[in-house]
Amino acid sequence: MKKNAAKKAFIIGHPISHSLSPAMHGYWLEELGIDGSYEAINCPPEYLHKTVKKLAETGYVGGNVTIPHKEKVMMICDEIDENARKIGAVNTLVFEDKKIYGYNTDIIGFMENIKPASDKNIPHKNALILGAGGAARSIILGLKNSGAKVTIVNRTLEKAEKLAKEFGAEFISWDKQKELYPQIDLLVNTTSIGMKGENNYKFDFSTLNKNAVVTDIVYTPLKTEFLKSAENAGCRIIDGMGMLIHQGVPGFEKWFDATPEPSQKLYDFLAAKLK
Ligand code: ATR
Repeated sequence: MKKNAAKKAFIIGHPISHSLSPAMHGYWLEELGIDGSYEAINCPPEYLHKTVKKLAETGYVGGNVTIPHKEKVMMICDEIDENARKIGAVNTLVFEDKKIYGYNTDIIGFMENIKPASDKNIPHKNALILGAGGAARSIILGLKNSGAKVTIVNRTLEKAEKLAKEFGAEFISWDKQKELYPQIDLLVNTTSIGMKGENNYKFDFSTLNKNAVVTDIVYTPLKTEFLKSAENAGCRIIDGMGMLIHQGVPGFEKWFDATPEPSQKLYDFLAAKLK
């Protein structure tokens, strides 16, 4: 690599055109006056190994990994950090000293996003997580690491049970979730319910604890039906855009040696792109 050459990073996925990450990292690069780039790479699964190796060999500093490659990319990493290993997925790669390092920054993204509403009291929180798929894992780990009591509820009970055992959490069946509503402090939707064009499920939050903080990892649309129902029930809501923004910070720091700001201006800039 040429001395002082512009640093190049990427996001790799399939499909990738919908990703807001290039706009976000491009915004930060410009804001911080860094001579660098962040490009979207559309890569079908069968070419993942070859493509990542090539990127590492051709001067890229690293990048993000998204659907459907987050699990498979672990096989290409030389070293994987503990959180990524426990979650079973890597979303951030760093190429350094001829090695490929894998991290999972979703856990930081989620925890930072709920921080303003968590009044530094997470260890005493009673959290209910809806869903037991891949997206639930970083959230459950983040909350367990912080000392919260975590209960998992999922349409397919066996998946909730398996995850609860793995992470030392509780689990309940889908039709029992309402029984917990009055006692919970934090409610997180990690299911695909409410995603653009996805299945619609009607939540009845009439008995939800009014002091509960309710968040959704879906950000298309920004205010999902799930969040609207919680807001109508008088709860504080946090949308999923902040998680996307906060998960991007550690990667940017590692690739470009600068700390980007997860500002309201950036939030508005990205929100405008969803319209
Ligand atoms: P991801 O990796 O993004 O989490 P996933 O593994 O497909 O995606 O998981 C999707 C989650 O949404 C699952 O918990 C799924 O429940 P099941 O395990 O029972 O399939 C949940 N989900 C999707 N549609 C749902 C619906 N209509 N009602 C309840 N849960 C739903």
